[in-house]
Amino acid sequence: MNVPILDLGRTRRRIASQLDERWRKILDDSSFVLGPEVREFETAFASYLGVAACVALGNGTDALILALRALGLKPGDEVIVPAFSFFATAEAVVLLGGKVVFADVDPETLNLDPADAAARVTARTVGILGVHLYGRPFDVDGILALCRKHGLWLVEDAAQAHGARWQGTRVGGFGQLAAWSFYPTKNLGCFGDGGAATGNDRELVERVRSLGNHGQTSRYHHVAVGTNSRLDSLQAAVLNCRLPLLDADNARRGEIACRYHGALAGVGDLRLLPDRPGVQSVYHQLTVRTARRDELMAHLKAAGIASAIHYPSPLHHQPALAGLVEVRDGDLPIATAAGREVLCLPVFPELTNEELEAVGAAVRSFFGA
Ligand SMILES: Cc1ncc(COP(=O)(O)O)c(C=O)c1O
Repeated sequence: MNVPILDLGRTRRRIASQLDERWRKILDDSSFVLGPEVREFETAFASYLGVAACVALGNGTDALILALRALGLKPGDEVIVPAFSFFATAEAVVLLGGKVVFADVDPETLNLDPADAAARVTARTVGILGVHLYGRPFDVDGILALCRKHGLWLVEDAAQAHGARWQGTRVGGFGQLAAWSFYPTKNLGCFGDGGAATGNDRELVERVRSLGNHGQTSRYHHVAVGTNSRLDSLQAAVLNCRLPLLDADNARRGEIACRYHGALAGVGDLRLLPDRPGVQSVYHQLTVRTARRDELMAHLKAAGIASAIHYPSPLHHQPALAGLVEVRDGDLPIATAAGREVLCLPVFPELTNEELEAVGAAVRSFFGA
């Protein structure tokens, strides 16, 4: 049996008729940019998250950049960033001339480690850019305590965590701002690029909106040099079809994760990321760790099962950042080891039980279990 890592065709078929209707209306009205679909989504997503405001943007990378700009990041300002994430997290800081200071991740959750982050704070630190990696909230209380102690802002990179909860509250409103990606593979994805910023400070979110629309506060009145980063209506329509399904989709991901945990616990040297009390993951990825990662991946491929490595290299080893970040040899050991060990197995709402059992059986057979 061939098992894909993700099958967006199955997703599309679930929303096809509603989407066709919405898209036809957009085409009839020619409301391609900043139309009613975009407003509808902003209102619905803010309400879903329980935050005061949402601005839809062109993509998640822009959401990070514009959030940092809205917070006034200046060249030379230091921002603490986890060393294990997608490149865009660090890229946004560097693009604005900020200095990335990498902190290591927790050995069990692979999320930002508050104790390690605390050790990296200097007089030049202005904020923390935390990542809810793989759909699992980072230690929000620990990071917020650190921010309060040193007067730092917090930006949540929530690109992988649509609907995830920390102590019962959805992520996206804990920091001054949160940045979202709706890249097609995300739990809430559109069929192209899309992003958003959310928060509880309406003025700050409006600043992001203005920066993403050429710094305008009203038509042709530009109070800042911004950029063009707007969600188009066709993509907003996809999100409007998918948002009402998100909780059920996340619940199915949770069920799949639970079955994987049952099938794979104690197999070989395989380790799964733990489920901690008060932390509700939305399983954007189902990540396992093993010293034999590359062999396992090849074994699965031979059995027709797709898997993926998110991410093969920690951020401090990326060539683009050489010379821009100060990292001593042997520093950030957990993030470094994660790059060698992690493997993500298929997890998406439409994955069938037969498919996930085939994945579980193939992993077990690799370890001779
Ligand atoms: C953690 C993280 N941050 C930022 C991004 C960037 O989002 P986008 O691809 O929409 O620019 C992504 C997604 O790819 C991501 O996974």
